[in-house]
Amino acid sequence: MEYKIKLDEPNLSMNNYHLILEPCVELVCKPFDEYLETHTNCPINLVDFGTCERQTFLPFLELLIGHIRRSSTSQEIVVTFHDQYTNDFNALARNITAFQKAMNDPLLRMYIIPGNVYRQCLPNSSIDLGICSFVIQWLSEPIKLDKHILYVPGETENEAEIKRISAQDWMDFLMKRSMEMKKGSLFLVNIMCGSSEVWTILSNEFYQLYERDIISKEDLRNTTIPVNTFRTEAEFIAPFKDSTQELGLQLLHISRRPTKLYENKDIVSGLKPCVFYSLMSGLSKTRGAQEVQEICDLYFQNLKHRFSSWKCFDVFICDVLFQKL
Ligand SMILES: C[S@@+](CC[C@H](N)C(=O)[O-])C[C@H]1O[C@@H](n2cnc3c(N)ncnc32)[C@H](O)[C@@H]1O
Repeated sequence: MEYKIKLDEPNLSMNNYHLILEPCVELVCKPFDEYLETHTNCPINLVDFGTCERQTFLPFLELLIGHIRRSSTSQEIVVTFHDQYTNDFNALARNITAFQKAMNDPLLRMYIIPGNVYRQCLPNSSIDLGICSFVIQWLSEPIKLDKHILYVPGETENEAEIKRISAQDWMDFLMKRSMEMKKGSLFLVNIMCGSSEVWTILSNEFYQLYERDIISKEDLRNTTIPVNTFRTEAEFIAPFKDSTQELGLQLLHISRRPTKLYENKDIVSGLKPCVFYSLMSGLSKTRGAQEVQEICDLYFQNLKHRFSSWKCFDVFICDVLFQKL
């Protein structure tokens, strides 16, 4: 799967620390402080998987560094920023260089690594604390849908296949993290859930292009956005129940909370980076670049119309915290 933020529109980048990570500060910092008490003589490795340009993670990182420095001023802190190879790593490098300068901590090291979150990305037993926010709704492989571009339960065909891929992805994600985590270390995953109305509108507007003869049936089949925001808590819990020993992970916390994304912002501009790349890659299988751009422009124009009276985008965030046994 290749998911890419549209690079020429930097105003679209996400900065959702207050919505995503700030509500988890106590949840993570309490067990992390306890972990630090018994890990005073080694470097502390922090990782953000699917960091994008880092915006959501850096305020949280600043706080974590504060926690580590409270107990030790002589420990190296190694921070790894991860995303898939299509990410804008230049923007990320600029951002983290500025952050490192501002922190002025001679024992703070920063690394960037490209990698697929469903594969092993870091050495065995290396992570002390990992974060992964708003990433695993992206599935590891394209889904085959004839009529829709996005999955909505009860409306979309191929539901069983989507559930199978989603379950396998979650299992793969946990197994790879388990290999990378140190004994006793912690990992927080924030997962975007729900929003069926929004995904239905995105699908319907694309189908309208077909009904108006702007795109063909083949374009419809070629174009899907491989996202599942409809996993249940039971689906997230299942691997911990069924395969705790095999996984070597213990579930410490799972909960769901409602959140409003893009409040008083342009919703279509917020959604565009998530949708654009999938549209481009689907449509460009049969069309030239200019035609693809024109169809995308029309699609987003139509979406602006559909969302013109919307004040926000309601989602749930599922927070999952687990620990390596
Ligand atoms: C919506 S952004 C979230 C960025 C950031 N974590 C945050 O919370 O603001 C999703 C990120 O996940 C990355 N991503 C999606 N699928 C991935 C995969 N299979 N492996 C690694 N990164 C992936 C994308 O490149 C993108 O940067």
